[in-house]
Amino acid sequence: MRCGLLILFCVFFFAACSGAAGPTPAPRPSATLSPEAARGKTVFSQNCGSCHSTIPETVIVGPSLAGIASRAETRKPGQDGRTYLYTAILQPGDFLVDGYSDLMPATFGKQLTGEDLDAVVAYLLTLE
Ligand code: HEC
Repeated sequence: MRCGLLILFCVFFFAACSGAAGPTPAPRPSATLSPEAARGKTVFSQNCGSCHSTIPETVIVGPSLAGIASRAETRKPGQDGRTYLYTAILQPGDFLVDGYSDLMPATFGKQLTGEDLDAVVAYLLTLE
């Protein structure tokens, strides 16, 4: 019983302290994502994050996708970034990023709903 009261006291003590800990932290960048891009971020972490980092220069299995919004339109002459991203996801073997093998599954067209696909592309287009 005594112990329980002590724990309760600690909980209140820390709650009170954290409440008084100055201004609330600035919102993280994800707070500014559109609802579609925010959904895409979730799709990304569930389906893509095991192979792709969004931290620059960080290779997991595939290349880092930091800055992909700007890079996408430079990949294939005459192809805009959005089209490149759809192709890169649906037919990954179509174009291989230099230095990488054809390890990305070509099954996302079946695995993801159309909305999830649109959402993940919208998210990638925020990675300037
Ligand atoms: C099993 C690992 C794996 C998974 C899972 C995976 N990828 Fe990839 N991805 C790769 C590899 C390897 C490459 C490089 C070869 C190539 O270009 O296809 C790549 C290339 C890409 C590229 C081209 C990058 C560039 O710089 O041009 C994009 C865009 C991409 N992936 C997006 C995705 C998205 C979105 C998902 C989830 C829906 C995903 N990938 C899931 C391994 C993976």
